[in-house]
Order: sequence, then C-alpha cells, then structure tokens
Amino acid sequence: MSMKPFYDVLVIGSGAAGLNFALEVADKASVAVLSKNDLKEGSTYYAQGGIAAVLDEHDSVDSHVEDTLIAGGGLCDEKAVRFIVERGREAINSLINYGVNFSHYKSEDGHADYHLTREGGHSKRRIIHAADATGKELEETLEDRVREKDTIDTFEHHVAIDLVRERLADGSYGRCAGAYALNNKDGRVALIRARAVVLATGGASKAYLYTSNPDGCSGDGIAMAWRSGCRVANMEFSQFHPTCLYHPYARTFLISEAVRGEGGKLVLPDGSRFMDRFDARAELAPRDIVARAIDHEMKRLGVDHVYLDISHKDAGFVTGHFPTIYQQCLDVGIDITKQPIPVVPAAHYTCGGVMTDLNGRTDIEGLYAIGEVAFTGLHGANRMASNSLLECLVLSTAAGRDFLEWLPDLPEPAEVPPWDESWVTDSDEEVVVSHNWDELRRFMWDYVGIVRSTKRLERAKNRIDLLQLEIDEYYGNFRVTSDLLELRNLSVVADLVVRSAMERKESRGLHYTIDYPEPDDKHAPANTVLKPLRRKWRGAQSTSRVG
Ligand code: FAD
Ligand code: SIN
Repeated sequence: MSMKPFYDVLVIGSGAAGLNFALEVADKASVAVLSKNDLKEGSTYYAQGGIAAVLDEHDSVDSHVEDTLIAGGGLCDEKAVRFIVERGREAINSLINYGVNFSHYKSEDGHADYHLTREGGHSKRRIIHAADATGKELEETLEDRVREKDTIDTFEHHVAIDLVRERLADGSYGRCAGAYALNNKDGRVALIRARAVVLATGGASKAYLYTSNPDGCSGDGIAMAWRSGCRVANMEFSQFHPTCLYHPYARTFLISEAVRGEGGKLVLPDGSRFMDRFDARAELAPRDIVARAIDHEMKRLGVDHVYLDISHKDAGFVTGHFPTIYQQCLDVGIDITKQPIPVVPAAHYTCGGVMTDLNGRTDIEGLYAIGEVAFTGLHGANRMASNSLLECLVLSTAAGRDFLEWLPDLPEPAEVPPWDESWVTDSDEEVVVSHNWDELRRFMWDYVGIVRSTKRLERAKNRIDLLQLEIDEYYGNFRVTSDLLELRNLSVVADLVVRSAMERKESRGLHYTIDYPEPDDKHAPANTVLKPLRRKWRGAQSTSRVG
C-alpha cells in the first residue's frame, strides 16, 4: 500500500484501542494504522475472560465503581473510574453492532440472553465474553470492519521508532507531527506525517522473563512518549496474573480468571486449598493478593507451581465454557476435566503508562494515548480483571470524538527531516542485542517481581544504567532492527518501573517490598509521576536519533 504525503491521524497499534479509534473517526478522516506484526497480533487477540460492564438488572454502576476502587488499593481516580464504568453498556452495544458474537445462555423458560461470568474482585457477574476466546472474536471483528473502510490505510510489519514533533522558532518542540517507522519487510525507515498521532501500542510485560503477553509487548509507546516529553505515571504497578500454565516444554499460556469465577480451586501439591488463609474472598480475591499468596506458598514449600483444579465440575460444563483452555492443555497432555492444571504467576499487565486525560490527550499537543499504553487513573495500584478491554473501548471512543471535534482546526503537519542513516552501518554483533534482552528480562523477574526490596531495586538500577549506555552506543552506530528497537524501549520501561518502585516506600496493591511491608497513607505518593527532562532540538541528524 502506498503511503499518503500525510494523514489526518496516524494510529500506532492495531489492538482493541487502535482499531476502535480508527473506526470511530474513519467516516470523517484519513487514517493510517501501524502494526508491528500482522494486524491482529497483540494482547487483545489473546484476551480470554471478557469485558467488564454493567449489563445485568441486578448490577449497578455504583457496584462496579466500588469493586474497582477496592481492587485498586486506594489509588484509583474515582472520576476516571465512574467515567469509564458508566460507558460500559454503550461500548458493548457498539461491539454488538460491529458484529461481535458474545456467548449466550438459555434460561429454564427458554429465554436467551448474554452469559455473564465472574472474575476476581467483582462482587457481581458482569463479564461479557465469547467463551474463553473473547479477544479473538473482538479483534477479528474489528479487523474485518477496518478492512472495509477505504479511508483507513493499514501498514503491517511497520515498527514505529520515535515520534516527530514540529520545531518551534525558539528551538523547542511543538505539536506531534508523525513518526518514523521501520518497515520490517525491507528494512527501510519511513517518515509518516499526520495532523495528530494516537499511541495504542499496548503494554510492557515483555520486560519480565515470564509473561502471559505475546511478543511485541515491549512498551514502545511508553518509551516513545517519554523520549518525546510526556509524563509517565505509576509504572511500579506491574500486574502478575496468578494463573499461567506451568509446563517445562510449553510456552506460557494464560488460564483465565474465569476458571476460578466458575468454581476452579487453587490447591497445593497435596491437594489442600490455601487461598482462604490469605483472604476471605479466597480464589476470587483481587489478583495482587492471589499472585502474592501463590508466590508465598511456592517459596514456602520450594515447589515450581501450584494447581488450579476445575475437574470437580461436569466435563461438558468445563469444555463448553473453556474450549480453548481445554484444548491447549490437552495438547500438552493435561485433561482439565480430569486433572488439576499446574499454574504459576506471570507478568500480565502494565497498570502505569503515559498520563492522559479522559479524552486520551497527553502532555503533547496532537498526541493521544489510549489502551494499555495509557495511565488514566482507572486501575490504581491493581487493575481489576476485565477492566482493561473496557478502558480500551471507552477511551478510544472518547479520544476519537475529541479528535473529530478538533479536526477542522488542525494544521497540516509540520515539515520534518527524513530519517538519516548516513552515520550508521550494519551491526556485526547481533549477539549483543539478544544477550541484553535476556539479561534485562531475567533481572527484572528476579529483582523487580512480585516481592521487591530496596537492595534488589538498587541492583536492577545499576544494571539498567550500564545496559542503557551500551544500547545507546549501539543505537547510535548501527542500522536499526526491530529487536534493537524493542530492547531500547524495554530498557527505558525497566528504568521507569525501577525508579517508580524506588519512590514508593510502602507496600500497596501490586507493589510489595519487604523493606516497607505496610501501606503508608501519610507519606507515600498518590501517583508516582515521572517527568522527562525538557530537551531542545539538536539539529537534523538527531531527528533520526531523537532523544
Ligand atoms: P494490544 O492489543 O496489545 O495492541 C498493541 C498494538 O500495538 C499491536 O497491534 C502492536 O503490533 C502495536 N505496536 C506496539 N508497538 C508498536 C510499534 N513500535 N510500532 C507499531 N505498532 C506497534 N483484558 C481484559 O479486559 N479482559 C481479558 O479477558 C483479558 N485477557 C487477557 C489475556 C491475555 C493472555 C493477555 C496478554 C491480556 C489480557 N487482557 C485482558 C489485557 C488486555 O487484553 C490488554 O490490556 C488489551 O488488549 C490491550 O489492548 P491495546 O489495544 O492497548 O494493545
Ligand atoms: C483472564 O481471563 O483471566 C484475563 C482477564 C484480564 O486480564 O482482565
């Protein structure tokens, strides 16, 4: 597909947030959508449990708000929570109109309705889903709708490198005017210009050795926004999902929280339950509590995993509700209708991110951030299950409407210099990149994981500082590759996580440190807001190496 001289809006990312935004504006604007891989690849496609929304007559907005605030450990922004929760029904109706096929059930009187499941932290059944493959159904439907629009140009296998901003007369930066992107198929770097840019690049859980996330979740949007001058908040709150499949030869695979919602029990190797020793809500306590309890029991007993058991339920019920999980486990020799599933926690979700308002606007004019890349205040110290897709949908719609309101007044994007490769050569030591990838993800797991300490954070910080020197030198001298770009971004994200964790001298939600094991309402910051250094423009060559 040939690229236009400029677009009304460049959307970086093609998950729920990016595609829903593109559809919201496509009747009135020209849109470019960038995706690192195939359009459908990203966390959205793998989402299992579903989307939280108040849809049942016995449920209420107040109840969903209250559950979210409790799960968030006192740090949620109530205004943001209410804004998003109130728009849940509208978001779901819009998906149904696009053709998303959610699971139904038939009541005894033969009446068919959407099936709502339960997950941790929710006091009511309010998770609408498509069996245990909600993300696949959602992503494929949005993709189909996007491909029908001739105002949307999609660029797959294009990796955004950095945002570009207009240069002002005093040497400072102005509006966001587009981005440089590496075409992964031919190795060329393009400048894509646009009146506005939307970061919808997802989260950063690839910073950890074990993760439920697909490849590509390397925090690119957070790193790009940070380098361009946006504030980033609450990065210490890395969420670990309590139950990912443990198997020595299989890739980590999520076992949805809905399995516990439908009666699954967590048990130790001797078959005994343990969650009620940690929380009255037992298996349905919020994620931070369940993941920490599992970590505690694994360390206490010196075992590699615990078990999640749903084999006491009727086999037809299990295969009907969880066909994907059933098949994936069967493929590695575990029949979940008869056996317990070995599970461990793994990095799952980035609660912090680029600070935005409730229209997705960032600190930079012309730059929006929506979805997992953003920090809106919804999740506080711990995201409640299935609130993420809800946030993606509500904020992408809000940002789309805001953008359309401004569109008639938006200037043509500023002229910026093309990518400059005259200073660089091909790398002769790719091993440096792969080694540093492994090292970073391992020390993040060991030192900045479920249980932290000041000493471990300091160790991680020292290593990050050294790595960043090495990566900067490498980046300055060699032609970029997607592995190098991701490593560069991961090192930024790791640095932001560690610095935020060091600032939070208390334990709260997903941030637990043995040096400050209790919450400290008096001294701890509400949000951990990191501010980038303001930089002046450094001349044309540095546009290819912004920041
Ligand atoms: P993503 O869907 O991750 O999409 C990111 C996009 O950005 C991709 O298209 C990627 O290619 C692109 N991108 C990234 N960097 C670049 C770059 N540099 N250049 C170009 N493109 C780039 N949440 C729920 O609410 N309910 C669930 O049931 C649920 N289940 C989950 C199960 C799993 C296994 C996982 C991993 C997550 C789950 N989550 C769930 C979380 C939720 O799926 C994600 O938070 C959400 O899908 C994020 O959507 P997004 O649009 O922000 O990003
Ligand atoms: C799950 O199905 O357990 C994932 C839900 C989520 O991450 O919100």
